[in-house]
Amino acid sequence: MIQFVFCWVLGISVIPLVWANAIPAGDLEYFMPNSTGFRMQHGFETILVQPFGYDGFRVRAWPYRPPTGNEISFIYDPPLEGFENGKAHGMNFDTAFNGNRTMAIRNGNIIVRTSGWGGNPGGYRLAFYRVEKNESETLLTNEYAPLKSINPRYYRWPGPGSEFSAEFSFSTTPDEQIYGTGTQQDHMVNKKGSVIDLINFNTHIPTPVFMSNKGYGFIWNMPSEGRMEFGPVRNKFTADLATVVDYVIVAAPSGDYDTLQRRLSALTGRAPPPPLFSLGFIQSKLRYENQTEVELLAQRFKDLNIPVSLIVIDYQSWAHQGDWQLDPRLWPDVASMAEKVKDLTGAEMMASLWPSVADDSDNYLELIANGFLSATRSGPGTTDSWNGSYIRNYDSTNPAAREFLWKTLKRNYYEKGIKNFWIDQADGGALGEAYENNGQSSYIESIPFTLPNTLYAVGSQFSAGKLYPWAHQQAIEEGFRNVTETKMGTECEHISLSRSGYIGSQRFCSMIWSGDTTSVWDTLAVQVASGLSAAATGWGWWTMDAGGFQADPTVPWSANIDTPQYRELYVRWFQWATFLPFMRTHGSRECNTQNAYTCSNEPWSYGETNTPIIVSYIKLRYQLQPYLQTIFDQFHQTGRSIMRPLYMDFERTDPHIAEMTRKNTNATTQQYMFGPRLLVTPVTTPNVTEWSVYLPQIGTREIKPWTYWWTNETYAGGQIVTVPAPIEHIPLFYLGRQEDIFSGDVF
Ligand SMILES: *[C@@H]1O[C@H](CO)[C@@H](O)[C@H](O)[C@H]1NC(C)=O
Ligand SMILES: *[C@@H]1O[C@H](CO)[C@@H](O)[C@H](O)[C@H]1NC(C)=O
Ligand SMILES: *[C@@H]1O[C@H](CO)[C@@H](O)[C@H](O)[C@H]1NC(C)=O
Ligand SMILES: *[C@@H]1O[C@H](CO)[C@@H](O)[C@H](O)[C@H]1NC(C)=O
Ligand SMILES: *[C@@H]1O[C@H](CO)[C@@H](O)[C@H](O)[C@H]1NC(C)=O
Ligand SMILES: *[C@@H]1O[C@H](CO)[C@@H](O)[C@H](O)[C@H]1NC(C)=O
Ligand SMILES: *[C@@H]1O[C@H](CO)[C@@H](O)[C@H](O)[C@H]1NC(C)=O
Ligand SMILES: *[C@@H]1O[C@H](CO)[C@@H](O)[C@H](O)[C@H]1NC(C)=O
Ligand SMILES: *[C@@H]1O[C@H](CO)[C@@H](O)[C@H](O)[C@H]1NC(C)=O
Repeated sequence: MIQFVFCWVLGISVIPLVWANAIPAGDLEYFMPNSTGFRMQHGFETILVQPFGYDGFRVRAWPYRPPTGNEISFIYDPPLEGFENGKAHGMNFDTAFNGNRTMAIRNGNIIVRTSGWGGNPGGYRLAFYRVEKNESETLLTNEYAPLKSINPRYYRWPGPGSEFSAEFSFSTTPDEQIYGTGTQQDHMVNKKGSVIDLINFNTHIPTPVFMSNKGYGFIWNMPSEGRMEFGPVRNKFTADLATVVDYVIVAAPSGDYDTLQRRLSALTGRAPPPPLFSLGFIQSKLRYENQTEVELLAQRFKDLNIPVSLIVIDYQSWAHQGDWQLDPRLWPDVASMAEKVKDLTGAEMMASLWPSVADDSDNYLELIANGFLSATRSGPGTTDSWNGSYIRNYDSTNPAAREFLWKTLKRNYYEKGIKNFWIDQADGGALGEAYENNGQSSYIESIPFTLPNTLYAVGSQFSAGKLYPWAHQQAIEEGFRNVTETKMGTECEHISLSRSGYIGSQRFCSMIWSGDTTSVWDTLAVQVASGLSAAATGWGWWTMDAGGFQADPTVPWSANIDTPQYRELYVRWFQWATFLPFMRTHGSRECNTQNAYTCSNEPWSYGETNTPIIVSYIKLRYQLQPYLQTIFDQFHQTGRSIMRPLYMDFERTDPHIAEMTRKNTNATTQQYMFGPRLLVTPVTTPNVTEWSVYLPQIGTREIKPWTYWWTNETYAGGQIVTVPAPIEHIPLFYLGRQEDIFSGDVF
């Protein structure tokens, strides 16, 4: 893989990059910022621009009322890496002017320049350029301002208060490619042309962080709901309600995505090293109903000698929503269960928690009395319902509410040996589904109202709703760190699993999964691009429900473990899960023969011929642990992506990759590198015995050739090859030696 090492020679510090094997690109003198920032007064508007981190600028803008500097932010000030040397910028600047002149600041390889409009010699438009090695400047983007059209920084006051809505427009070109933006379900790695609502739903975690193939990264550092639009000549970001607009841009040589991820993650956060057990196999289903069932499950894993590292208890294991306690009638002795599971299998346990609190919950009165529950803008009313009870969500944005949640989880789970938590339905607003009255009636779905305008300690759903899942992850993180007396960023002892997240969620001991998917082939296929977009957004710790979450009601065999069609889909989906950051099966299954409320979803549930295949992948997963640790460690150190869309490694060595990525062809939306050595191509259609794979052209100085995992046959890059893919073999290619992969000696 191409890795450029820049050895920044700074007056204050030298940051060595530690990729063995990397190709040094020569030393480069770092251009220290020649200003601490400027504040430009422009009519009723003020704009503050500061050099930020290496090769970046932070921009804040506001009409009339100045911000306090304590607004919600998802970026570190000072950044984790940068020229700042531990000093925060706050609202500092050294130059103030009113737009009647121009101004430029350079920070490393990026320059911001102000310019006028329509022949005006003054400067109140911003433009960002990359400085090339030969000192020429390349325009990355500027504020989009065609003559006599909408202002690129456009404000409106839709409500009675001082909060405004903001629409900011930036120039783009038809050939720009946009990577990241959180996760959608759209088969797209390149988001050009997309309109994406910044509203969370189950399976959709829109997040305004992207990388451009022009060599810049962008963070719309806003907690509000809104929209991202990627048109042919204009990219537009909308915040529905705000008190300040805040964004960051960072530059890197075009095609150098590892540096972009490094720059972005220096601002948004680096993942800690995960607990080792989390890299093994995670067993889950909807749902293990009681203590006996879980103990028998662990016994079965032991009897069959199948390794398992984490066993998960799903929802409705509680007596009421918001008890944050297992129902003692079904789980009489939690501590002895956790101990038994551990003794039998070595596995840890995880339990689901929902943020929702029903009126009959043990905790309701105390929560409502303390103001720990979210309300609505029009009163204290409820925000959703589930299984016959109306619910309010606890307010994750309130630190005291987070503390209450953790205190309760600690008492009821943690101290009894269940130390990992599943943050389900955590999307915020309501329960995160595309319909309200969740679980009330199947006749009233997708009613055309906005989500409830929930009110939190920090603001309303419109102004701060995107913070909700992030703060919920934070609650569990704070709990973990408090109880283990460790610092954020250091190795995690425990882990959470979240259905949502936001800018910089990778900083928590928390994996994000792709939500409640359907058990059909196309849904399998579409998860690949979702995971690759998660990676580009900075969320390395991604996973999904192997097998899909629930039956597609229009497909008779879907999720039915007794049908050959679903068994085949399951095996394909499961084998793919081996090559994800976390290997996890989960879902609601159907069956013909079992007389159970929930059908089984264990490695042995899919027929005699499939069991050994499934087990072989679990075993392979454990063999890959050193490799996994190495690539997680790189992600921790530098933000280097774990799942790697092909453009990350091959855009500069294979002229077809950029073009195929532009068009979102299957080769780029359904193939990826898993770490530096494995090319993974899940089978996404039924009944195949062979599979066609595009093997990218590899740079002249890189490890070659491509070797097919199952035959050791070798192939040159830059061609489509068809390889045998019987049900027991996922199409998998490797670079270098298998021995090195198994030992993790790959950088
Ligand atoms: C710009 O405005 C400032 C403050 O109003 C004034 O002092 C200065 O002379 C003006 N400069 C130019 C070039 O117009
Ligand atoms: C900073 O450096 C850039 C690039 O050399 C230059 O265009 C700009 O005028 C300088 N700005 C200041 C405030 O010195
Ligand atoms: C400087 O480098 C850029 C980017 O590599 C290139 O496009 C440009 O043509 C070069 N300019 C000169 C004058 O060599
Ligand atoms: C536990 O759940 C299993 C599986 O649904 C069920 O067969 C069994 O009766 C339950 N046992 C208890 C004690 O509730
Ligand atoms: C709904 O709640 C009742 C308890 O009130 C419980 O017995 C039942 O299992 C729940 N049903 C579903 C589908 O969640
Ligand atoms: C963790 O401990 C800190 C310091 O005592 C406290 O402020 C915070 O509320 C605790 N967090 C949780 C989730 O318990
Ligand atoms: C791309 O993949 C999808 C989903 O797997 C499949 O249905 C479609 O036929 C593929 N398209 C091409 C051109 O191969
Ligand atoms: C799979 O292939 C077999 C034999 O070619 C055929 O009979 C069967 O209908 C196919 N099944 C599906 C789901 O396409
Ligand atoms: C492929 O080569 C590796 C050694 O690098 C060996 O361990 C493995 O058994 C070989 N696989 C096949 C199918 O020959």
